[in-house]
Amino acid sequence: MEFTVQLLKNMKDAPFELLLLADPSKRNVQEYLQRGRCYIAANRLETIGVFVLLWTRPGTMEIVNIAVREEYQGQGIGKQLVLRAIGEAIEQHARTVEIGTGNSSLSQLGLYQKCGFRITGVDRDFFIRHYDEAIFENGIPCRDMIRLSYDI
Ligand code: ACO
Ligand code: ACO
Repeated sequence: MEFTVQLLKNMKDAPFELLLLADPSKRNVQEYLQRGRCYIAANRLETIGVFVLLWTRPGTMEIVNIAVREEYQGQGIGKQLVLRAIGEAIEQHARTVEIGTGNSSLSQLGLYQKCGFRITGVDRDFFIRHYDEAIFENGIPCRDMIRLSYDI
């Protein structure tokens, strides 16, 4: 699948239907869109994916949101977007890229590790503290945030 990736200029054009696939909290998404850089993947017809990069500490950028439109998932696009996000962080002279996902997000944990991320820690009960609704994936309650990082 051929697609281009571009920095979103105007946050009011952010693809919320995709961003909310990765993070069900609209308030969170709005908050980090203000502070971060949102990149849009598009083919000739439509927006097919998105990722958001945010400086969190000096030298460290975090991929705070990454999503592929449902009908295009499982074709390698997510992997290309993670690698592209790392490339953007390199261009920004970051030294480390971080990403976090739920304990129940098994395929995401597979994807990030295949892209070179390594687990650095667990933020226990993160999803209990920050989300009103209970989240279940793969039959597993999502409670803890698994933190991963990639050293450039
Ligand atoms: N074990 C091992 N590897 C796995 C597993 C598993 N259980 N599941 C998936 N993978 C691998 C695949 O094999 C593939 O690697 P490969 O190409 O080497 O075989 C890779 O992970 C993922 O495949 P892609 O087709 O590139 O992924 P996709 O295009 O579906 O995008 C994404 C992945 C972005 C997670 C997508 O499914 C999506 O949008 N999901 C909903 C939103 C979401 O959960 N976003 C992440 C939330 S966390 C955050 O935003 C920081
Ligand atoms: N997503 C969600 N749930 C999953 C997934 C997945 N990707 N993969 C497995 N599961 C769930 C299954 O759904 C099932 O739960 P359910 O009954 O609620 O549906 C459960 O995990 C495992 O199913 P079982 O059939 O009970 O497991 P099995 O009899 O295959 O035993 C074991 C698992 C012991 C790991 C076996 O596969 C094995 O011997 N593997 C090789 C040795 C090994 O790896 N041992 C563990 C090493 S770590 C250690 O020893 C401490």
